Amino acid sequence: MEAMAKNLRVLRRQISDPALRESSVALLGTMEANALKAKELVPEKSRDVPEPERDKFIAAYRTKMDEFTAALRAIAVQVREGRFEAAKEALGKLQTLKRAGHEQFSSESEEE
Ligand code: HEM
Repeated sequence: MEAMAKNLRVLRRQISDPALRESSVALLGTMEANALKAKELVPEKSRDVPEPERDKFIAAYRTKMDEFTAALRAIAVQVREGRFEAAKEALGKLQTLKRAGHEQFSSESEEE
């Protein structure tokens, strides 16, 4: 997730730059691979969830990660097609997914 944060910062700077299109698509691909790996992990917070609810909690986490992955793919398509303004807007919405994901599934108090 640290790598994800770094890649996101780079992307935010360059997403509208047509000359960096290939680089942006590659960064989005790396983030997607990271999200797929993260999906297989179990959030630490699961330990605080009572047993009968735990599986549901983990399933909800994985669904949210799928949503996040789909959003990354959609942005990659926009960049590839040269729809940079739409890509920029969608990148902003990624923040909302991130915040929602952390609020619901992360026990860390630090806001990313
Ligand atoms: C651009 C999007 C995101 C960024 C930049 C990001 C970044 C981070 C960072 C820097 C951390 C703390 C360090 C670490 O544990 O590796 C973290 C933790 C965490 N994030 Fe994200 N995150 C993103 C999206 C998401 C989404 C969509 C979810 C949920 C579906 C999520 C769930 C978590 C969880 C559960 C933790 C705590 C780790 C644990 O409990 O084992 N994150 N994230």
